[in-house]
Amino acid sequence: MTKTLLRGRILTFHADPAETEDNHLYIEDGAILIADGVIEAVGSHDELRRQGLADGAREIDHRPHLILPGFIDPHIHFPQVQVIASWGTQLLDWLNRYTFPEEARYADRDHATRMAGAFLDQLVAHGTTTACAFSSVHRGSTEALFEAADARGMALIAGKVMMDRNAPEGVRDTAQSGYDDSKALIARWHGNGRLRFAITPRFAITSTPEQMEAAGALAAEYPAMHIQSHLSENLAEIDYTLQLYPAARDYLDVYERYGLLGRQSLMGHCIHLREREIARMAETGTRAIFCPTSNLFLGSGLFDADGLRAAGIVSGIATDVGGGTSYSLLQTLNEGYKVLQLRSQKLHPLAAFHWATRGNAVALGMEDRIGSIRPGGEADLVVLDSRATPDMALRAERIETLSEELFLLQILGDDRAVAQTYVAGQPMKPAVPVG
Ligand code: GUN
Ligand code: FE
Repeated sequence: MTKTLLRGRILTFHADPAETEDNHLYIEDGAILIADGVIEAVGSHDELRRQGLADGAREIDHRPHLILPGFIDPHIHFPQVQVIASWGTQLLDWLNRYTFPEEARYADRDHATRMAGAFLDQLVAHGTTTACAFSSVHRGSTEALFEAADARGMALIAGKVMMDRNAPEGVRDTAQSGYDDSKALIARWHGNGRLRFAITPRFAITSTPEQMEAAGALAAEYPAMHIQSHLSENLAEIDYTLQLYPAARDYLDVYERYGLLGRQSLMGHCIHLREREIARMAETGTRAIFCPTSNLFLGSGLFDADGLRAAGIVSGIATDVGGGTSYSLLQTLNEGYKVLQLRSQKLHPLAAFHWATRGNAVALGMEDRIGSIRPGGEADLVVLDSRATPDMALRAERIETLSEELFLLQILGDDRAVAQTYVAGQPMKPAVPVG
């Protein structure tokens, strides 16, 4: 088997810059040796060549571009590829007017198959190599998504949404069928190659207590499995949730009652949390996922990154397409920076790029395999071109530090700045001749 040696400017993180001074490794003329989808060695290009480690390897020179771990998107909706950019509503009306009717189309397996390929192609084009995705309510569409991810060799986490009320017929299951379909998908896909299943009660409003119990039963049967849902995104959503679950102390308590909290549990949004909810999320290790483009687009509110960190909550940052408006983690970091500005909080570019890579891997509990560039890690990588567009090239003339370059990518970059994406060592974009 031929090994691959990637040459370029390598940046990877081993700690959170918001917490630790020694947090990243940058190698100006670096190289990454890849064999069988796994990183074998990382170091200076000279060193790896001198040691003879890369003898016989096929070398790809990405200089002067940066090579980072592939981006990780811990909250995104696969059946919303044709919902993104829908005008004029906030969460509950947006779901009813645009999202549920669109997701109903995923009952058609052929449609789901076409969209699954398009969805993953968009992720990869934007430099995203792992996502934790909501599918539609349909078992077949979730199958289609897993098949497409498997064909691309991607480490994908996905779940069939469970939703048995407050939605039209074409996107409702039942407590029993939601449980049975999830079990069937787990048996077929969970742990198959790089694929994992996530238990996915959409949110409290669209599940009856019986269905929440079924989701809790799955969580008890598979204690290491991811759980994904939505929490405290929108004020009208919170009011309605508390009407539907009058015995719950607060929104989080709905999920807590059914055993759905913990370190493997990922809650999208977490904007309007009460003190008790913040304390319980920290105690249980439940993850908060910040979705800035979505929170701005749907007018949901401003995520309190510093406050949640100070309380001891681990956060991820995600696109939430199609409530979110870009597949790009770069654009997500851009809008995240602006949301935090409105809270008088500062997102440093090093912290931002850590968040989109290792930080999200930590949120997913997968930092031993993805999210950084180190021997033994899986070879999911993104190659970034800081001069990809004329406006970027112009600004780049005046940068002097790595942090300035990262910030330029964060604010001006999108898929055009992604020169290449490697999934398990395989290039996913057509190669562009260098020089
Ligand atoms: N809450 C429940 N479903 C959804 C969804 O699809 N998108 C967002 N942003 N919030 C939700
Ligand atoms: Fe969402």
